[in-house]
Amino acid sequence: MTTVLSALAPRWDGPVVAALEGSGQVRIARRCADLADLLAAAAAGHGRVALVGADLRGLSLSAIARLHEVGVAVVGVSDPGDEATELRLWQLGVAAVVEATAAPPDLVAAVLAAAQAPGVAEPDPTAGDGFAAGPEVSVLPVLVREQRGRVLAVWGPAGAPGRTTVAVNLAVELATLGHETLLVDADTYGGCVAQTLSVLDEAPGIAAAARSADLGTLDLVALARLALVLGPRLRVLTGIPTASRWTEIRGAALERVLDVGRSLAAWVVVDVAAGLEDDEELSYDTLAPRRNQATLSVLDAADALVAVGGCDPVSLQRFVRGLQELGTVRAPTPLVVVNRVRPGAIGSDPERQVRESLARFAGVGDLHVVPDDPVALDAAMLAGRALAECAPTAPSRRALTALAARLAGAGDHVDAGHRPAGSARRTGLLGRRGDPTRI
Ligand SMILES: Nc1ncnc2c1ncn2[C@@H]1O[C@H](COP(=O)(O)OP(=O)(O)O)[C@@H](O)[C@H]1O
Ligand SMILES: [Mg+2]
Repeated sequence: MTTVLSALAPRWDGPVVAALEGSGQVRIARRCADLADLLAAAAAGHGRVALVGADLRGLSLSAIARLHEVGVAVVGVSDPGDEATELRLWQLGVAAVVEATAAPPDLVAAVLAAAQAPGVAEPDPTAGDGFAAGPEVSVLPVLVREQRGRVLAVWGPAGAPGRTTVAVNLAVELATLGHETLLVDADTYGGCVAQTLSVLDEAPGIAAAARSADLGTLDLVALARLALVLGPRLRVLTGIPTASRWTEIRGAALERVLDVGRSLAAWVVVDVAAGLEDDEELSYDTLAPRRNQATLSVLDAADALVAVGGCDPVSLQRFVRGLQELGTVRAPTPLVVVNRVRPGAIGSDPERQVRESLARFAGVGDLHVVPDDPVALDAAMLAGRALAECAPTAPSRRALTALAARLAGAGDHVDAGHRPAGSARRTGLLGRRGDPTRI
């Protein structure tokens, strides 16, 4: 017998419950008064499927992700013929949507099918009230499924090794190579992609997109509106300017943003914060938002990962530890990048020294080196532009072009150094200067 937790508006609660119970295959374990009641009953293991209406107060993508985490499938119940509500329920990540007036066998079939979904747990009557780590459930249907883009996470340990520099320039280079690219600033410790590219955004795009995702209203059009257009193939979702706003980027909502981003761009390049420790372990309140969850969610969702470390002894030691820690979380195998490689920091033949250290202490056999290039990077920072625009022949730019080509599958044979100087500007890739637009 499949157990159900219902949290429906009074007008539908009676008829839907009666239809389900009449089948003999479904038992209504609890009729929940509100979302808190539903979450508590789900956490306590009282039901396998939750029935929710879009008008349930506080219902959000995060709440549905919570239900999934404790192994409860969610079926949305919509008013008959109300397509807007149905769409919103889909965008919140429910497993199925049925009309409240559907024939009883259809209602029962929807509940039974949802209960069969992978990750849906048998109710556990011995479960306590806290949210235990539940099985993984794949959430979040997308609206457009053709030509799904790839998510590239750019991570690095603490100490400003150059994550943002690499993320921004990789995004620009991928766009220059002809790929539709969306650059996302998901640094929950204070993003600076907007500043790096001198775009003025009165409201951080990532916060607005995450909020929209949480409300179930984020679709392709909404995301395209929130992302600033920096060129024909480059968009950016700006980050939170102050670290104190980190709660606006929650993991589940960010996953949805990336998922929709895959429909918007061939490459979704995400600049993430350094922290990898799961702050859930630091808190007894497991419903509280978790600051590092954004990074962990991006790494989990990513198809490719660039790990950026610095070149001086302290940065290298941090990088070795960081790479070890990275091995303990769900993430793609990193493409290791050592940035700011210079003899002054590590001695003569710095590239060989870096390769030897990382091979010895982190088992890294393949790494990509970006030279220290303060002249070009300072000029880029001052101008608020990418290297492709203001220092197209700089050594750091060549290294990043080669890295982008490698990621894009063009292979190492693409010689970035032979790219005509200033090509990005001439082709108008970044033709916006000073006037980014939203579509
Ligand atoms: N290869 C490089 N050569 C010289 N300076 C660099 C290089 N990469 C990054 N920088 C500089 O280092 C500083 C920190 O870089 P940033 O990308 O903001 O680090 P993170 O995002 O890891 O905190 C910036 O001033 C940037 O211009
Ligand atoms: Mg940064």
